[in-house]
Amino acid sequence: MALKHLLACLSLVGLEAKKALVIVDTQDCFLENGSLPVVASQIIPKLNQIRNEKDCLFDLVVKTQDYHPAGHISFGTSHGMAQDSPNAQMSNSWRGAMTMQCIKNGGNDEACCPLYYVNSSAVTCNPPLEYCAPDGFYNSSTNPMLMNNPACTTCKNSPDSCFSMNMELWLDHCLQSGDSALASNLVSKTTDVIVQKGQIPYIEMFSAFMDNTRNYKSELDAKLKENGITEVYAAGIATTHCVRWTVQDAIFLGYNASIIMDASAGIWGTPTSYANESEAIADFQRQGITVLNTADLLKMTCESVAQDTSNAMASSMSLLSLMGLSSLWS
Ligand SMILES: *[C@@H]1O[C@H](CO)[C@@H](O)[C@H](O)[C@H]1NC(C)=O
Ligand SMILES: *[C@@H]1O[C@H](CO)[C@@H](O)[C@H](O)[C@H]1NC(C)=O
Ligand SMILES: *[C@@H]1O[C@H](CO)[C@@H](O)[C@H](O)[C@H]1NC(C)=O
Ligand SMILES: *[C@@H]1O[C@H](CO)[C@@H](O)[C@H](O)[C@H]1NC(C)=O
Ligand SMILES: *[C@@H]1O[C@H](CO)[C@@H](O)[C@H](O)[C@H]1NC(C)=O
Repeated sequence: MALKHLLACLSLVGLEAKKALVIVDTQDCFLENGSLPVVASQIIPKLNQIRNEKDCLFDLVVKTQDYHPAGHISFGTSHGMAQDSPNAQMSNSWRGAMTMQCIKNGGNDEACCPLYYVNSSAVTCNPPLEYCAPDGFYNSSTNPMLMNNPACTTCKNSPDSCFSMNMELWLDHCLQSGDSALASNLVSKTTDVIVQKGQIPYIEMFSAFMDNTRNYKSELDAKLKENGITEVYAAGIATTHCVRWTVQDAIFLGYNASIIMDASAGIWGTPTSYANESEAIADFQRQGITVLNTADLLKMTCESVAQDTSNAMASSMSLLSLMGLSSLWS
Protein backbone atom coordinates (compact mmCIF):
# COMPACT_ATOMS: atom_id res chain seq x y z
CA MET A 1 0.00 0.00 0.00
CA ALA A 2 2.70 2.48 1.04
CA LEU A 3 4.78 1.64 -2.02
CA LYS A 4 1.74 2.11 -4.19
CA HIS A 5 1.26 5.58 -2.69
CA LEU A 6 4.89 6.38 -3.25
CA LEU A 7 4.62 5.41 -6.90
CA ALA A 8 1.47 7.49 -7.22
CA CYS A 9 3.35 10.50 -5.77
CA LEU A 10 6.28 9.98 -8.09
CA SER A 11 3.96 9.87 -11.03
CA LEU A 12 2.19 13.03 -9.82
CA VAL A 13 5.46 14.95 -9.76
CA GLY A 14 6.15 13.70 -13.26
CA LEU A 15 9.20 11.58 -12.51
CA GLU A 16 7.53 8.37 -13.49
CA ALA A 17 6.01 9.85 -16.63
CA LYS A 18 7.15 7.96 -19.69
CA LYS A 19 5.91 9.29 -22.98
CA ALA A 20 4.94 7.68 -26.25
CA LEU A 21 4.42 9.48 -29.54
CA VAL A 22 1.69 7.70 -31.48
CA ILE A 23 1.62 8.70 -35.16
CA VAL A 24 -1.78 7.57 -36.38
CA ASP A 25 -2.41 6.28 -39.91
CA THR A 26 -0.04 8.65 -41.70
CA GLN A 27 -0.20 6.56 -44.85
CA ASP A 28 -0.36 7.06 -48.60
CA CYS A 29 -4.07 6.09 -48.59
CA PHE A 30 -4.96 9.09 -46.40
CA LEU A 31 -2.80 11.68 -48.19
CA GLU A 32 -4.05 13.84 -51.07
CA ASN A 33 -3.52 11.22 -53.76
CA GLY A 34 -4.77 8.32 -51.68
CA SER A 35 -7.77 6.03 -51.81
CA LEU A 36 -9.46 8.01 -48.99
CA PRO A 37 -7.84 11.39 -49.42
CA VAL A 38 -7.55 13.97 -46.66
CA VAL A 39 -5.87 17.38 -46.93
CA ALA A 40 -3.00 16.13 -44.80
CA SER A 41 0.42 16.51 -46.43
CA GLN A 42 1.00 19.68 -44.34
CA ILE A 43 1.39 17.53 -41.21
CA ILE A 44 4.42 15.60 -42.48
CA PRO A 45 6.96 18.42 -41.94
CA LYS A 46 5.49 18.98 -38.45
CA LEU A 47 5.81 15.32 -37.52
CA ASN A 48 9.34 15.24 -38.96
CA GLN A 49 10.35 18.35 -37.00
CA ILE A 50 9.10 16.72 -33.80
CA ARG A 51 11.06 13.57 -34.62
CA ASN A 52 14.23 15.42 -35.64
CA GLU A 53 14.30 17.89 -32.76
CA LYS A 54 12.44 16.22 -29.91
CA ASP A 55 12.53 12.46 -30.25
CA CYS A 56 14.35 12.58 -26.90
CA LEU A 57 11.02 13.42 -25.23
CA PHE A 58 9.67 10.00 -26.10
CA ASP A 59 10.45 6.62 -24.64
CA LEU A 60 8.61 4.98 -27.51
CA VAL A 61 7.44 6.03 -30.98
CA VAL A 62 4.57 4.05 -32.47
CA LYS A 63 3.23 4.35 -36.00
CA THR A 64 -0.15 2.88 -36.72
CA GLN A 65 -1.20 1.52 -40.10
CA ASP A 66 -4.78 1.05 -41.26
CA TYR A 67 -4.51 -2.28 -43.05
CA HIS A 68 -7.73 -3.56 -44.56
CA PRO A 69 -8.48 -6.83 -46.30
CA ALA A 70 -10.60 -6.60 -49.48
CA GLY A 71 -14.33 -6.50 -48.72
CA HIS A 72 -13.90 -4.89 -45.29
CA ILE A 73 -17.26 -4.27 -43.65
CA SER A 74 -16.66 -0.50 -43.44
CA PHE A 75 -16.49 -0.16 -47.24
CA GLY A 76 -19.69 1.07 -48.89
CA THR A 77 -19.04 -1.39 -51.71
CA SER A 78 -19.43 -4.26 -49.22
CA HIS A 79 -23.07 -3.18 -48.92
CA GLY A 80 -23.84 -2.69 -52.59
CA MET A 81 -22.70 0.89 -53.15
CA ALA A 82 -21.11 1.48 -56.54
CA GLN A 83 -17.32 1.52 -56.68
CA ASP A 84 -16.34 5.18 -56.57
CA SER A 85 -13.21 7.31 -56.73
CA PRO A 86 -12.38 10.35 -54.65
CA ASN A 87 -13.69 13.60 -56.11
CA ALA A 88 -11.57 16.71 -56.50
CA GLN A 89 -13.01 18.30 -53.33
CA MET A 90 -12.28 15.07 -51.38
CA SER A 91 -15.83 15.31 -50.11
CA ASN A 92 -17.14 11.86 -51.00
CA SER A 93 -14.89 9.74 -48.76
CA TRP A 94 -17.67 9.34 -46.20
CA ARG A 95 -20.49 7.44 -47.86
CA GLY A 96 -23.04 6.99 -45.09
CA ALA A 97 -23.74 4.93 -42.00
CA MET A 98 -25.82 1.95 -40.98
CA THR A 99 -26.90 -0.04 -37.94
CA MET A 100 -25.00 -3.23 -37.26
CA GLN A 101 -25.64 -6.15 -34.93
CA CYS A 102 -22.44 -7.42 -33.33
CA ILE A 103 -21.27 -10.46 -31.44
CA LYS A 104 -18.86 -10.12 -28.59
CA ASN A 105 -16.06 -12.67 -28.89
CA GLY A 106 -13.23 -10.52 -27.63
CA GLY A 107 -10.81 -11.86 -30.19
CA ASN A 108 -10.13 -12.20 -33.89
CA ASP A 109 -13.66 -13.53 -34.43
CA GLU A 110 -15.21 -10.27 -33.30
CA ALA A 111 -17.80 -9.42 -35.94
CA CYS A 112 -20.77 -7.24 -36.89
CA CYS A 113 -23.51 -7.86 -39.44
CA PRO A 114 -25.92 -5.34 -41.01
CA LEU A 115 -29.22 -5.22 -39.09
CA TYR A 116 -30.91 -4.85 -42.46
CA TYR A 117 -29.77 -8.40 -43.24
CA VAL A 118 -30.48 -9.76 -39.73
CA ASN A 119 -34.02 -8.34 -39.59
CA SER A 120 -34.96 -5.95 -42.37
CA SER A 121 -38.28 -5.04 -40.74
CA ALA A 122 -36.34 -3.55 -37.80
CA VAL A 123 -34.72 -0.93 -40.08
CA THR A 124 -36.21 2.29 -41.40
CA CYS A 125 -34.04 3.04 -44.41
CA ASN A 126 -32.97 6.68 -44.38
CA PRO A 127 -29.75 7.23 -46.31
CA PRO A 128 -27.12 8.39 -45.82
CA LEU A 129 -27.51 8.00 -42.02
CA GLU A 130 -29.32 4.66 -42.28
CA TYR A 131 -28.21 3.26 -45.59
CA CYS A 132 -29.85 0.03 -46.85
CA ALA A 133 -28.33 -2.33 -49.39
CA PRO A 134 -30.20 -2.75 -52.69
CA ASP A 135 -32.68 -5.64 -52.94
CA GLY A 136 -30.97 -8.97 -53.46
CA PHE A 137 -27.49 -7.75 -52.48
CA TYR A 138 -27.49 -9.50 -49.11
CA ASN A 139 -27.96 -12.99 -50.53
CA SER A 140 -26.53 -15.40 -47.96
CA SER A 141 -25.83 -18.08 -50.55
CA THR A 142 -23.72 -15.83 -52.77
CA ASN A 143 -22.44 -12.86 -50.74
CA PRO A 144 -19.06 -13.75 -49.19
CA MET A 145 -19.44 -11.16 -46.43
CA LEU A 146 -22.58 -12.88 -45.18
CA MET A 147 -21.31 -16.42 -45.77
CA ASN A 148 -18.09 -15.98 -43.78
CA ASN A 149 -19.27 -13.57 -41.10
CA PRO A 150 -20.10 -15.28 -37.78
CA ALA A 151 -22.27 -12.32 -36.66
CA CYS A 152 -24.59 -12.87 -39.63
CA THR A 153 -25.45 -16.39 -38.47
CA THR A 154 -25.41 -15.76 -34.72
CA CYS A 155 -27.45 -12.55 -34.83
CA LYS A 156 -30.05 -14.06 -37.17
CA ASN A 157 -30.42 -17.22 -35.04
CA SER A 158 -30.16 -15.72 -31.56
CA PRO A 159 -30.69 -11.95 -31.75
CA ASP A 160 -30.55 -11.59 -27.97
CA SER A 161 -26.87 -12.54 -27.92
CA CYS A 162 -26.01 -9.54 -30.12
CA PHE A 163 -25.72 -5.84 -29.49
CA SER A 164 -26.32 -2.87 -31.74
CA MET A 165 -23.84 -0.28 -33.06
CA ASN A 166 -23.73 2.38 -35.72
CA MET A 167 -21.05 1.99 -38.39
CA GLU A 168 -19.83 4.57 -40.89
CA LEU A 169 -19.24 3.60 -44.51
CA TRP A 170 -16.30 4.77 -46.60
CA LEU A 171 -14.68 4.57 -49.98
CA ASP A 172 -12.58 1.39 -50.26
CA HIS A 173 -9.27 2.39 -48.68
CA CYS A 174 -5.88 1.33 -47.27
CA LEU A 175 -6.03 -2.15 -48.76
CA GLN A 176 -3.29 -4.53 -47.67
CA SER A 177 -2.71 -5.05 -51.40
CA GLY A 178 -3.14 -1.32 -52.14
CA ASP A 179 -1.87 2.06 -50.94
CA SER A 180 -1.61 1.29 -47.21
CA ALA A 181 2.16 1.99 -46.96
CA LEU A 182 3.29 4.54 -44.38
CA ALA A 183 4.05 7.92 -45.98
CA SER A 184 7.53 7.50 -47.45
CA ASN A 185 8.69 11.00 -46.49
CA LEU A 186 7.97 10.44 -42.79
CA VAL A 187 11.09 10.24 -40.60
CA SER A 188 11.66 6.59 -39.87
CA LYS A 189 13.89 4.95 -37.27
CA THR A 190 14.61 1.29 -36.67
CA THR A 191 13.19 1.63 -33.15
CA ASP A 192 9.77 2.79 -34.41
CA VAL A 193 7.08 0.30 -33.49
CA ILE A 194 4.45 -0.39 -36.17
CA VAL A 195 0.95 -1.34 -35.02
CA GLN A 196 -1.47 -2.51 -37.69
CA LYS A 197 -5.21 -2.03 -37.31
CA GLY A 198 -8.33 -2.71 -39.36
CA GLN A 199 -7.30 -6.23 -40.40
CA ILE A 200 -10.28 -7.90 -38.74
CA PRO A 201 -12.76 -8.08 -41.65
CA TYR A 202 -16.11 -7.54 -39.94
CA ILE A 203 -15.43 -4.87 -37.32
CA GLU A 204 -14.51 -1.19 -37.53
CA MET A 205 -11.41 0.01 -35.74
CA PHE A 206 -10.79 3.77 -35.74
CA SER A 207 -8.67 3.70 -32.58
CA ALA A 208 -5.23 2.13 -32.56
CA PHE A 209 -6.10 0.50 -29.21
CA MET A 210 -9.48 -1.15 -29.73
CA ASP A 211 -12.30 -1.65 -32.17
CA ASN A 212 -15.18 0.83 -32.07
CA THR A 213 -17.16 -1.37 -29.65
CA ARG A 214 -14.14 -1.76 -27.31
CA ASN A 215 -14.19 -5.54 -27.39
CA TYR A 216 -11.20 -6.33 -29.61
CA LYS A 217 -7.78 -4.97 -28.57
CA SER A 218 -4.66 -4.48 -30.70
CA GLU A 219 -1.24 -5.03 -29.13
CA LEU A 220 -0.81 -1.27 -28.56
CA ASP A 221 -1.93 -1.13 -24.91
CA ALA A 222 0.34 -4.08 -24.04
CA LYS A 223 3.28 -2.49 -25.92
CA LEU A 224 2.86 0.79 -24.02
CA LYS A 225 2.47 -0.94 -20.64
CA GLU A 226 5.51 -3.14 -21.33
CA ASN A 227 7.49 0.08 -21.78
CA GLY A 228 6.05 1.79 -18.69
CA ILE A 229 4.35 4.49 -20.78
CA THR A 230 1.88 6.70 -18.90
CA GLU A 231 1.51 9.59 -21.36
CA VAL A 232 0.33 9.31 -24.95
CA TYR A 233 0.91 12.10 -27.49
CA ALA A 234 -1.09 11.40 -30.61
CA ALA A 235 -1.06 13.04 -34.04
CA GLY A 236 -1.80 12.00 -37.60
CA ILE A 237 -4.88 11.26 -39.69
CA ALA A 238 -7.73 11.81 -39.13
CA THR A 239 -8.22 14.23 -36.23
CA THR A 240 -11.97 13.59 -36.49
CA HIS A 241 -11.75 9.80 -36.56
CA CYS A 242 -8.70 7.62 -35.92
CA VAL A 243 -6.70 10.17 -33.92
CA ARG A 244 -9.82 11.14 -31.95
CA TRP A 245 -10.75 7.55 -31.10
CA THR A 246 -7.13 6.76 -30.20
CA VAL A 247 -6.88 9.55 -27.61
CA GLN A 248 -10.36 8.77 -26.30
CA ASP A 249 -9.32 5.14 -25.78
CA ALA A 250 -6.03 6.28 -24.22
CA ILE A 251 -8.04 8.18 -21.60
CA PHE A 252 -10.41 5.21 -21.21
CA LEU A 253 -7.39 2.94 -20.58
CA GLY A 254 -5.97 5.32 -17.96
CA TYR A 255 -3.24 7.15 -19.91
CA ASN A 256 -2.68 10.86 -19.84
CA ALA A 257 -3.48 11.76 -23.43
CA SER A 258 -2.58 14.75 -25.60
CA ILE A 259 -3.41 15.48 -29.21
CA ILE A 260 -1.00 17.50 -31.34
CA MET A 261 -3.58 19.47 -33.27
CA ASP A 262 -1.48 21.03 -36.04
CA ALA A 263 0.29 17.71 -36.70
CA SER A 264 -3.10 16.11 -37.31
CA ALA A 265 -5.50 16.46 -40.23
CA GLY A 266 -9.26 15.98 -40.13
CA ILE A 267 -12.23 14.98 -42.25
CA TRP A 268 -14.44 17.88 -41.23
CA GLY A 269 -18.15 18.33 -41.58
CA THR A 270 -19.40 14.77 -42.09
CA PRO A 271 -22.86 14.38 -40.50
CA THR A 272 -21.52 12.11 -37.75
CA SER A 273 -18.36 13.98 -36.75
CA TYR A 274 -17.07 17.45 -35.92
CA ALA A 275 -17.94 20.49 -38.01
CA ASN A 276 -14.58 22.17 -37.47
CA GLU A 277 -11.44 22.38 -35.32
CA SER A 278 -12.96 24.58 -32.62
CA GLU A 279 -15.78 22.12 -32.04
CA ALA A 280 -13.23 19.28 -31.87
CA ILE A 281 -10.92 21.12 -29.46
CA ALA A 282 -13.80 21.91 -27.08
CA ASP A 283 -14.92 18.28 -27.11
CA PHE A 284 -11.37 16.95 -26.58
CA GLN A 285 -10.82 19.28 -23.62
CA ARG A 286 -14.16 18.34 -22.09
CA GLN A 287 -12.95 14.72 -22.13
CA GLY A 288 -9.69 15.54 -20.33
CA ILE A 289 -7.56 15.33 -23.48
CA THR A 290 -4.78 17.94 -23.56
CA VAL A 291 -4.77 19.87 -26.84
CA LEU A 292 -1.44 21.29 -27.98
CA ASN A 293 0.50 22.21 -31.08
CA THR A 294 3.93 21.29 -32.45
CA ALA A 295 5.45 24.48 -31.04
CA ASP A 296 4.41 23.44 -27.52
CA LEU A 297 6.29 20.16 -27.90
CA LEU A 298 9.35 21.88 -29.38
CA LYS A 299 9.51 24.06 -26.25
CA MET A 300 9.60 21.04 -23.94
CA THR A 301 13.00 20.05 -22.61
CA CYS A 302 14.45 16.59 -22.70
CA GLU A 303 16.13 15.65 -19.47
CA SER A 304 19.25 13.56 -19.76
CA VAL A 305 18.92 10.04 -18.46
CA ALA A 306 21.54 10.59 -15.77
CA GLN A 307 19.84 13.74 -14.52
CA ASP A 308 16.50 11.99 -14.65
CA THR A 309 17.79 9.19 -12.46
CA SER A 310 19.47 11.42 -9.88
CA ASN A 311 16.44 13.71 -9.71
CA ALA A 312 14.20 10.71 -9.35
CA MET A 313 16.43 9.30 -6.64
CA ALA A 314 16.63 12.60 -4.72
CA SER A 315 12.89 13.14 -4.94
CA SER A 316 12.19 9.57 -4.01
CA MET A 317 14.37 9.89 -0.94
CA SER A 318 12.77 13.17 0.14
CA LEU A 319 9.30 11.78 -0.46
CA LEU A 320 10.22 8.68 1.47
CA SER A 321 11.47 10.66 4.43
CA LEU A 322 8.46 12.97 4.23
CA MET A 323 6.32 9.90 4.41
CA GLY A 324 8.44 8.36 7.13
CA LEU A 325 9.11 5.40 4.96
CA SER A 326 12.86 5.61 4.47
CA SER A 327 13.23 2.15 5.93
CA LEU A 328 11.62 0.85 2.77
CA TRP A 329 14.62 1.99 0.78
CA SER A 330 17.25 0.08 2.77
C1 LIG B 1 -0.38 13.94 -56.21
O1 LIG B 1 -0.10 13.50 -57.52
C2 LIG B 1 0.23 14.57 -58.41
C3 LIG B 1 0.32 13.99 -59.81
O2 LIG B 1 1.18 12.86 -59.81
C4 LIG B 1 1.51 15.22 -57.93
O3 LIG B 1 1.85 16.30 -58.77
C5 LIG B 1 1.31 15.72 -56.52
O4 LIG B 1 2.52 16.23 -56.02
C6 LIG B 1 0.83 14.62 -55.61
N1 LIG B 1 0.47 15.21 -54.33
C7 LIG B 1 0.95 14.76 -53.17
C8 LIG B 1 0.53 15.50 -51.96
O5 LIG B 1 1.68 13.80 -53.10
C1 LIG C 1 -37.65 -7.90 -36.32
O1 LIG C 1 -37.90 -6.56 -36.01
C2 LIG C 1 -39.25 -6.29 -35.73
C3 LIG C 1 -39.39 -4.78 -35.60
O2 LIG C 1 -38.52 -4.29 -34.62
C4 LIG C 1 -39.67 -7.05 -34.49
O3 LIG C 1 -41.01 -6.79 -34.21
C5 LIG C 1 -39.43 -8.54 -34.73
O4 LIG C 1 -39.70 -9.26 -33.55
C6 LIG C 1 -38.02 -8.81 -35.16
N1 LIG C 1 -37.89 -10.17 -35.57
C7 LIG C 1 -36.99 -10.98 -35.03
C8 LIG C 1 -36.93 -12.36 -35.57
O5 LIG C 1 -36.25 -10.62 -34.14
C1 LIG D 1 -29.57 -15.93 -53.98
O1 LIG D 1 -28.73 -16.29 -55.04
C2 LIG D 1 -29.05 -17.54 -55.59
C3 LIG D 1 -27.98 -17.91 -56.60
O2 LIG D 1 -27.82 -16.87 -57.54
C4 LIG D 1 -30.45 -17.48 -56.20
O3 LIG D 1 -30.80 -18.72 -56.72
C5 LIG D 1 -31.45 -17.09 -55.12
O4 LIG D 1 -32.75 -16.90 -55.66
C6 LIG D 1 -31.02 -15.82 -54.41
N1 LIG D 1 -31.88 -15.59 -53.27
C7 LIG D 1 -32.54 -14.47 -53.08
C8 LIG D 1 -33.36 -14.38 -51.84
O5 LIG D 1 -32.48 -13.52 -53.88
C1 LIG E 1 -1.62 15.33 -18.58
O1 LIG E 1 -0.32 15.90 -18.66
C2 LIG E 1 -0.32 17.27 -19.00
C3 LIG E 1 1.12 17.69 -19.21
O2 LIG E 1 1.93 17.25 -18.15
C4 LIG E 1 -1.02 18.05 -17.91
O3 LIG E 1 -1.05 19.42 -18.24
C5 LIG E 1 -2.44 17.51 -17.77
O4 LIG E 1 -3.10 18.16 -16.71
C6 LIG E 1 -2.46 16.02 -17.55
N1 LIG E 1 -3.83 15.58 -17.65
C7 LIG E 1 -4.39 14.72 -16.80
C8 LIG E 1 -5.82 14.38 -17.06
O5 LIG E 1 -3.77 14.23 -15.88
C1 LIG F 1 -17.71 25.39 -35.77
O1 LIG F 1 -18.88 24.62 -35.78
C2 LIG F 1 -19.82 25.02 -34.80
C3 LIG F 1 -20.94 23.98 -34.78
O2 LIG F 1 -21.47 23.81 -36.06
C4 LIG F 1 -20.31 26.42 -35.11
O3 LIG F 1 -21.24 26.84 -34.14
C5 LIG F 1 -19.10 27.36 -35.10
O4 LIG F 1 -19.49 28.64 -35.50
C6 LIG F 1 -18.01 26.85 -36.03
N1 LIG F 1 -16.81 27.63 -35.79
C7 LIG F 1 -16.03 28.05 -36.76
C8 LIG F 1 -14.80 28.78 -36.34
O5 LIG F 1 -16.29 27.86 -37.94
